[in-house]
Formats: sequence, C-alpha cells, structure tokens
Amino acid sequence: MSKERVSRRQFLNYTLTGVGGFMAAGMLMPMVRFAVDPVLKAEAGGDFIATKQKVSELTKEPVRVDFTFKQKDAWYESEVTNTAWVYKDGDKIVALSPICKHLGCTVGWNTNKEHPNQFFCPCHYGRYEKDGTNIPGTPPLAPLDEYPYKEKGGYLYLGKAEPRKEA
Ligand code: FES
Repeated sequence: MSKERVSRRQFLNYTLTGVGGFMAAGMLMPMVRFAVDPVLKAEAGGDFIATKQKVSELTKEPVRVDFTFKQKDAWYESEVTNTAWVYKDGDKIVALSPICKHLGCTVGWNTNKEHPNQFFCPCHYGRYEKDGTNIPGTPPLAPLDEYPYKEKGGYLYLGKAEPRKEA
C-alpha cells in the first residue's frame, strides 16, 4: 500500500516538474531571444547598399552620391542617409567618406578657391588630396575613410566606410 502511494507521489512530482519546466522554458526562450536577437543581427551589417549612381556616368571628377538605408540600432529602426565622394581612377572606383578625420565636419570637393582640386573642410581648414590623403600641416591626421564598392546592374553599391589601409 505505502509503496503504491510513494510511487504515485513520485509520478505527480515528475509530471509537475516536467510541465513546470516546459512552461518555464516556453516563457524564457522568447525573452532570451528578444534580448539577444539585435546583438546577433548587428553582426550582419556588412551589406552593400544600392545607390542611384550609374557606374557608366562616373568620371575622373568626384561627384557627391547620397544613399539611404534602414539602420537598426538595437530595437530602434531608422532611415539613414550617407554620402560619398565618388570618382573613377582608371578601372578603379574611389568612394570616399565626407567625414573629416579631424573632428567630423563634412568635407566638400573643390570648395576652396585657393586650393583647387582638393577636399576641403571649412571647420578648421582641413585639406585632403583627391585620393583622400590628408595634407600635412592641416588639422586632419589621417586620410578620409573609403567605402568598399560593387557594381550591380550598372549601378554603384557601397558598403561600410573603413579607414584606409596604408599601402
Ligand atoms: S573638423 Fe575638419 S578640419 Fe577640423
């Protein structure tokens, strides 16, 4: 008799533990996934974004290319517009970030009459050569970042701007 009562109790214990565990896992898993998901997704940021710039229309003269994409910052999604200065250098395309490497102002192409054919930052008179190299004696201490690029269907696609690798 007593043996049977113990085994019933055990059976109940096992059943309740099992059901409880199952329910707890069911509740916890979405919470864990919710917490971890944006972090995992941030890893997939290396995508190339389509621009409206036709590769065939690029010349040796840098042009401003704006491109917009959706950026997910943890749980907040926003639309971001980035800019690149793009030109052709032989077979190669050069796509430079306009963000000044001094304090982050925006550089323009050929906007300083005294120093033509250079990138110029109006904030503290920073200057860069056409290839993005910072000109010694001006505030920036590093070359402009460069976007990796791809050509798809005749259009220019840009990746994430990166500091230029030293040759
Ligand atoms: S921010 Fe460009 S020179 Fe200072």
